[in-house]
This record gives sequence, C-alpha cells and structure tokens, in this order.
Amino acid sequence: MYDFDQIIPRYGTNSLNYDFIKERTGREDLLPLWVADMDFSLPSEVLEPLKERVAHGIFGYSDPKESYYKALSGWYERHHHWTIERRWNTVVPGVVYGIAQAILALTKPGDAILIQQPVYYPFSEVILDNGRCLVNSELVFNGTGYEIDFEDLERKILEEDVKMFLLCNPHNPVGRVWTLEELRRIDEITRRHQVLVFSDEIHGDFTFPGYEYTPYATVSEEAAQNAVIGTSPSKTFNIAGLQVSNIVIPNPALRKQYRHAVAASGYSQGNTMGLLAGELVYARGDDWYKELLSYLDGNLSFIREYLKEHLPKLQLIEPEGTYLIWINFEGLGLTKEQLDQLIVDRAHLFLDAGSIFGAASAQFYRFNIACPRSILEQAFDQLKEAMDSL
Ligand SMILES: Cc1ncc(COP(=O)(O)O)c(C=O)c1O
Repeated sequence: MYDFDQIIPRYGTNSLNYDFIKERTGREDLLPLWVADMDFSLPSEVLEPLKERVAHGIFGYSDPKESYYKALSGWYERHHHWTIERRWNTVVPGVVYGIAQAILALTKPGDAILIQQPVYYPFSEVILDNGRCLVNSELVFNGTGYEIDFEDLERKILEEDVKMFLLCNPHNPVGRVWTLEELRRIDEITRRHQVLVFSDEIHGDFTFPGYEYTPYATVSEEAAQNAVIGTSPSKTFNIAGLQVSNIVIPNPALRKQYRHAVAASGYSQGNTMGLLAGELVYARGDDWYKELLSYLDGNLSFIREYLKEHLPKLQLIEPEGTYLIWINFEGLGLTKEQLDQLIVDRAHLFLDAGSIFGAASAQFYRFNIACPRSILEQAFDQLKEAMDSL
C-alpha cells in the first residue's frame, strides 16, 4: 500500500541528517546514514489531517486531550500488551529532555548513574552535563552479539553506590531487544539495591521477526513502580522534529517529583502540531507501521546478503530491533584513523563511528537503514569500491 522505495529529496529542508553535514565537516560529498531519523514520509491518512490543521493558520497553545491519551494507550495495548493510564503520562519535547528531568528530579548532584556502553551517546552527556557521575557496565561482545554481565552490573551498583540505571530497551546501537528474563534480572538487582530505572523505550516499536519488545513496566508491578519509562512516536513515525514524547511514571510519588522538575524547567504546553501528529499516528498508523517493519526487514536482508557476497571481512551484528545496524570492521586490520579515512575520504559516507558510543567500540560503525533500498545499495557500493581500492 505504501511506497518506501520512493526517494524524497531532503536537502534544503533543514534536515539534520542531510543539511548539516557541511556545517560539521565542511564537505558536501558524503552520503549520510548517521542521524536516527528516516527518509520516509508520513502516510496520507496522517498527513491530510495535519495539512488541514496547518491550513487553519492559527497555532496557539495546546494541551493533550482524552483522544490523545486514548490513541497512546490503544497503540501500546494493541502492539505491546501494555495499558498506559492517562494519569501516568507527562508530555515533554523529547526523550533526552525527559531523561535530563528524571536525573534532576530523582537523583542528587554527584550521584552515580549507570549505563551500558556501547550506548546512545547523549546518555553520558546528559549525566555528566547535570553534574552526576557516570558508571559504565560494559555490554560483553561475545563474538556475534552482546550480553549483559549481570555480575559486573551488580558489583558496579554496589561499589559505586549507583542511584539510577539508564537502560536502553531496545538497545541502540547494538540492536538487542532485551528478553523478559533479562529485564526480570535487571529488576531484581536494581530493587535489591534501591536503584531507580529509567527505561528509554523510544525504539520499542522496531523489532525484527522473532523478537518481542517488553515494556519495562510490564515486567512486574514492582518493576513498574520503580521505573520511569521514556517513549515517543518520534522514531516510529519519523516525527522527531515535531517534538513530542511521553514519559510514563506509574509511581505517584516519583511522578509528582518528576512533574515538579519539568515545571521548574519552564516547560508546560506541548507543541500543537506534535500533539496532533502524536495522536494521529497512534490512532491511524497501524497499516503503515506494519509495512515499514517489513520494508526494514528487507533492508536488513539486503545488507546481510551484500556483506556475505561482497564484503566478507565485515561482520554484521545481527540486530533484534531498532533500525540501526552495527557493523564490525575489525577484520580489515586497520587503525581507527585508517578506518575513518576509509569511511569518509574513500567511501564518502557519513556514519556514526563506534567510538562515540564507547571507547571499546572503535572498530564499529553504525548505519541507519531506514531509507529507500536504493540509497543503501549506493552506500554499500561506495563502501565496496573504497575497500577494493585499499
Ligand atoms: C535511545 C535513544 N533515546 C533517545 C533518542 C532521542 O530522543 P529525543 O529526540 O526524543 O530526545 C534517540 C535518538 O536517536 C535514541 O536512539
């Protein structure tokens, strides 16, 4: 029903992914697969009502109404078996902003906050920028994928007196969709040591066949009461620029403290177009979303086959979820500088280098595959050509 192969030019739209490479690198010859947004347009069933709203011409203050909460809860019930009560939710402009407010509201200056690198790099920035201490329990690369070292996790929590655990569920960039069993163990350990969990579930809608995302709040009632959950339709429907995210806190005491921090930051009403888009996508986006997942699975198969056939020295870390692909370049035997040169100067690609997600990942690069397949073909052809010329 939907044409995900269509190339929609994004240059000249103030797109961070496309239009800001020149500002960052001074170059205009790089194909961008870095920022985690998609090259796909909203379906007409969502776009048309948004256009009508734009045509109205008045963009005064807004607030979410019952229909917004119904759409949000309906989406999570249909797709993830989670009922979100209206009172649990606080709308904020972004999940990272939501994390920052949780840090300010629910920890003290100097408190230790734990992350699992390699992980989405704003996690460490937002912890350090708010004067908290960063503790890393590195995910273990077992040669094909990533696992949690639960002993290390618990030891670090005890030794560093950790107060908050910033979980990425599913995990960007390694693509793990944490299992119920893993989340149960996290819940046991964190509650045993009075560690609050912030579960960033922005990628929860993206799972590949055979994997199921478990909202942290569905692990158990106790887990739900010990957690702040960050969600947003922004990744799933490519509306990050409309600035609407949902921070779900079932525990009333935590929620009260959280809302106080949001109010103290000076934020109140949400983005008028974002709230409307957030409601529309959750109410009308099911068909588009299903086709999107299937298209992304096709993109993943394309990469898998391409690497097997043309670039056997590169290792695809099979993702269980997200649309971000983590590729290991270790097999080339190059230094980090040589790798960067290969990617940028020879392959003319703009990617997120593994090192920004954690020091141990210097031989990895992250590729965003939420684009028309022909763009991926071009990107991997450029990479092949660059590697052939080594
Ligand atoms: C794990 C994770 N959290 C949060 C974000 C960004 O969220 P926001 O733009 O709502 O702050 C991203 C974007 O890539 C992400 O990967």
